[in-house]
Amino acid sequence: MNDVLAPPAHHPDLPQVPLKPLGKVLAVTSGKGGVGKTFVSANLAAALAKRGHKVLVLDADLGLANLDVVLNLYPKITLHDVFTGKAKLEDAILPAPGGFSVLLAGSGMVEYSRLTSEVRNEFLRVMNSLVPNYDVVILDTGAGISDVVLFAVSLASEVLMVATPEPTSLTDAYATIKVLVGQQQRQTIRVIINQATRSGSGVAITNQLQQVLDRFVVVGLNQQAIMRRQLMMQATPGCPAGVALGQIARNLEESVIPRAA
Ligand SMILES: Nc1ncnc2c1ncn2[C@@H]1O[C@H](COP(=O)(O)OP(=O)(O)OP(=O)(O)O)[C@@H](O)[C@H]1O
Ligand SMILES: [Mg+2]
Repeated sequence: MNDVLAPPAHHPDLPQVPLKPLGKVLAVTSGKGGVGKTFVSANLAAALAKRGHKVLVLDADLGLANLDVVLNLYPKITLHDVFTGKAKLEDAILPAPGGFSVLLAGSGMVEYSRLTSEVRNEFLRVMNSLVPNYDVVILDTGAGISDVVLFAVSLASEVLMVATPEPTSLTDAYATIKVLVGQQQRQTIRVIINQATRSGSGVAITNQLQQVLDRFVVVGLNQQAIMRRQLMMQATPGCPAGVALGQIARNLEESVIPRAA
């Protein structure tokens, strides 16, 4: 596996070159917002940590971060401080409930609404420092196809596209997959159907998208952990969503994540 970060293929200033596989960076993304990217990122991280992997989740939704809210963490130092040279990278990494590490971003920061060369370079620098230290780095990205989101996704070897069964979410997922296949030469994009009411409905939905999908998993609904501001994988690991995320963790382990030493 190759841990060297390649330049993003999509950026207009850069040549359109194929990405090198990075091995252990997973981007959790979506077409439409609010479909469960942060929920999946955090609980998948917990599932992988439980299986013995050293995991870090980076809040790659740079301007509108909300991983801190989901995890009930109040960071003093964020990725913004690292990007602007006010803090060292290691001081911004926090332990999260669930046995993994997090690197949180700030919220409401307009400077991250577009991809400047500073943001791009700092992001690459941070990723190059992080990747060798973890079995897997999960990028909890923003929704859609803005250049910041596409850049974050371009840093990953694996893309997990989260969608709900709602038609608008599926249409946006399809459109985003098309962009990723076209601009980043993605061969495989894994789709997670979140908030499915029945386990079978995810199968029907992913069959509709089957031309662009390789794998599917159904994640059921579990509201209890969220109300308590606790990780579902800790509060109710045996619920359908917990079982499904455990299965996703095992699938990823088989195909992309190296075994913990
Ligand atoms: N399977 C699930 N069971 C219960 N609650 C869920 C589930 N998936 C998501 N949620 C809840 O739905 C809301 C939206 O989820 P989340 O914040 O993970 O979405 P997102 O895709 O990260 O949103 P954004 O695009 O704003 O970053 C949150 O309150 C989250 O806790
Ligand atoms: Mg989110």
